[in-house]
Amino acid sequence: MSPFSRALKYPLRYKRYLVVTIVCVLLGALCYGGGIGTIYPILKLIISQEGPHGWADIRMSEDMMGVTLRSNVFAAGVKVELDKVKPDSPAELAGLKIRDTILAVDGNEVDLPSFVRLVAQMKASEVITLRWENEQGTESVQSIELKQARLDARIIAVLTDLLPRGLENRFLALAYILGLFWLINVMQSLTRFVQSYNAGIMIERGLLELRTKVYRNALSLPLKFYDLQGGSSDVASRFVQDSPTIKRGMKVLFTQAMLEPFKFLAALILALLCSWKLTLVVLAVAPVVLLLVTKLGKLMKKATRRSLQVWGNILGLLNETLSNIRVVKAYGSEGYEHRRFFRANRQLLKYLIRIARVDALTSPTVALLGISMATVGLLFACKLALPAGPGMKPEMAPETLFTFFGGIFGMAESLRKMSSVPNKLQASNAAAGRVFALLDQEKEHEERGAPELQPLSRQIEFENVSFSYPGAIDRALKEIDLVVPKGQTVALVGPNGSGKTTLISLLPRFFDPDTGRVVFDGQDIHKVTLHSLRKQMAMVTQQTVVFADTVAANIAYGRVRTGRERIIEAAKRAHAHEFIELLPQGYDTVLSEGGENLSGGQRQRISIARAILRDPEILILDEATSNIDADSEAKISQALAEFTVSRTCLIVAHRFATVMAADFIAVMDQGRIVARGTHEQLLASCPLYHGLYETQFVTGPSNNEG
Ligand SMILES: Nc1ncnc2c1ncn2[C@@H]1O[C@H](COP(=O)(O)OP(=O)(O)OP(=O)(O)O)[C@@H](O)[C@H]1O
Ligand SMILES: [Mg+2]
Repeated sequence: MSPFSRALKYPLRYKRYLVVTIVCVLLGALCYGGGIGTIYPILKLIISQEGPHGWADIRMSEDMMGVTLRSNVFAAGVKVELDKVKPDSPAELAGLKIRDTILAVDGNEVDLPSFVRLVAQMKASEVITLRWENEQGTESVQSIELKQARLDARIIAVLTDLLPRGLENRFLALAYILGLFWLINVMQSLTRFVQSYNAGIMIERGLLELRTKVYRNALSLPLKFYDLQGGSSDVASRFVQDSPTIKRGMKVLFTQAMLEPFKFLAALILALLCSWKLTLVVLAVAPVVLLLVTKLGKLMKKATRRSLQVWGNILGLLNETLSNIRVVKAYGSEGYEHRRFFRANRQLLKYLIRIARVDALTSPTVALLGISMATVGLLFACKLALPAGPGMKPEMAPETLFTFFGGIFGMAESLRKMSSVPNKLQASNAAAGRVFALLDQEKEHEERGAPELQPLSRQIEFENVSFSYPGAIDRALKEIDLVVPKGQTVALVGPNGSGKTTLISLLPRFFDPDTGRVVFDGQDIHKVTLHSLRKQMAMVTQQTVVFADTVAANIAYGRVRTGRERIIEAAKRAHAHEFIELLPQGYDTVLSEGGENLSGGQRQRISIARAILRDPEILILDEATSNIDADSEAKISQALAEFTVSRTCLIVAHRFATVMAADFIAVMDQGRIVARGTHEQLLASCPLYHGLYETQFVTGPSNNEG
């Protein structure tokens, strides 16, 4: 199944709108055919002698008697001559023959107009007495029983009866027909509106559902996915760029793609009614058009997919540059960024131009083919419309010819409108492919029917854990064995890149170990529900994260019903209350995205308040290594010291105070735990720790990361 048809399932759930859409399509097509069809009675009124009434009468009477009348001249005093007598017809049974002339009906003399009027008004199986003469002038009298006329003749009779009769009323009749023409067009516009509106509702609702589902899925994708792929920008672009492209395709599908084929069909039926042979000649060109349009559609799909990928890159670039605008400015790299943006855009331009080319090519090519086919058809049609000799009736009446023209042009027109449909559908298909690729990504692993993790009662164990990042050459963690008893605080120390952040990332299962396991009280955390696992812990990451929301909402994060008192209490315990109070709107101050209006230390204290409010059993803290002023540092340390009492804590420590407060310290280097013990033990036994202590802890954090 193509991605686009998968996407279609969403709007198609709204069956009610679909039904209305289909009804509108059918009505619209009927109006289209009807609109073109009005050419016929109009021309009948203007060009032909017999007019619509005479025409209907002739058809009725011919049908009821089973004859063909010579009717190229239709005027008072013209004789009723027979051109053909059908076998087994009432006329033949009565003994009428070709070239006979009917003189009287039921004893009254008749000419052609009065005869057809008279017969057309009779009912089926009524008996009339005819008097006629043959070519030699011999007269006969015989009664004949009329039969039922064909349905189409009867319909035409009923319809023409609605028009005023008589030559003097022709203008009025024309006005009637034009009025009908107008009504048909009103109806058509109305159906177009309802159809388009309905389709819009259906599509928007369906896409809302799809977007929500994709978003939910995007949130539960493993971090690995975001690390590997174009990352968050690529995912964002699938919402921003791809979903409108899908929408355009659906819109086309539920309007043009549904309506135009039926309009084509209506015009085709009209043309077939005029002359089925000529119509078939014209249709011979259709396969060429189809082939061409499919080919162009494929080109479109390829170009669209590429362009959407590049769009994703550009969005990534924008996001990266704009969120790091300080660095860009500080390093004066505006020119560099500008060139990067320009290059990516130029690449995009290539594909966009390709799309424009295919797009521009489609409509004129198809139009040209349509016109070619119409010209061929018309050439043959004109031949049929010319009389074969002087005084002879042409095989095709002019009004039929023009109606045929109308039908053919109607077909060509709806074909032209359909021509852009495959392109748009293919573009949409490409976009849907990208969206579903996201939806089909494997989510974070959770075993079917996994049990809840019980609250920690004894210890957390890392058992021989190794882990490497996707695509990395070296392992980030190598055979780690570590036991953290409940209620104790472990400080992880080590040089940059030694694997501290990676190790603590295994606890909430941001990543799963390649070998070995992480165990809570003997329970492998891989085998329990993610929710029950993550519920037990709070995490303060190295890059403190602040959302574009109020301070209070940032602390309560996600728990909308938390009371203000509890938020303030948590802020007090994190020593954040004092600076929050000084903000312009206090707890209701809206922080900027990324928290630019706070200092690094303040952001960190907000993060800690968030963790305190959550009141977790296990606290995971990745200390920021950025410079924090001495006052902040003291406050953070104090807050932590109060908070870590009787909680199980894993703390990546960059500060002496934190290290000292820990129950024991694990020293990491190049993915391994190289030593563990208390501060004094390690100072004596571990040269690496000694070095770290001298350079980092005593002189204060010297690096500027975080
Ligand atoms: N997302 C990632 N993809 C690939 N490799 C990574 C990723 N994150 C970290 N690494 C690599 O894994 C190793 C361990 O990184 P980690 O972030 O755990 O170090 P750290 O001890 O926390 O360092 P710091 O003290 O600077 O925070 C490093 O070599 C790093 O390059
Ligand atoms: Mg780190």
